[in-house]
Amino acid sequence: MEKYNKIIDKWNSDPDYVIEMMQDIQDEFKYIPREALELITKKTTKPLARLYHIATFYKSFSLEPRGQHIIQVCRGTACHVKGAAKILDAFERELNVKTGETSTDGMFTLEGVRCLGCCSLAPVITIDEDLYGEFKTADIPKLIKKYKGGEK
Ligand code: FES
Repeated sequence: MEKYNKIIDKWNSDPDYVIEMMQDIQDEFKYIPREALELITKKTTKPLARLYHIATFYKSFSLEPRGQHIIQVCRGTACHVKGAAKILDAFERELNVKTGETSTDGMFTLEGVRCLGCCSLAPVITIDEDLYGEFKTADIPKLIKKYKGGEK
């Protein structure tokens, strides 16, 4: 609660800055807990329904806890043609999750996404801010190990 308060206060509880508050909370906690939204409503008087609308409208916000690392596998047409489904399957097996889920150790959330805008590199995945083009499933164990170890 104290951390939410600090973030909201940083924006002077100004209702015009609820998106910025939500971004800061998302960055800090990797998702936006309900209690955080309730506190923003209380301190800014912005209606809770409006905050939920914002949270569900922007893809960068999550209302569910997410992993420490976000793996996104592009499912756009170019990547699909070059085996995106097989890549997603391979990540699902490696992490023992379904697409959209977070691994039990809380390390990874696996997502299938639309075109990442670099189709010439298909198939493409991202892990956090890092992009991997011409991706091969054989590289998955090595990458998982790398991110688990905290090195990039
Ligand atoms: S379809 Fe995958 S980057 Fe465009």
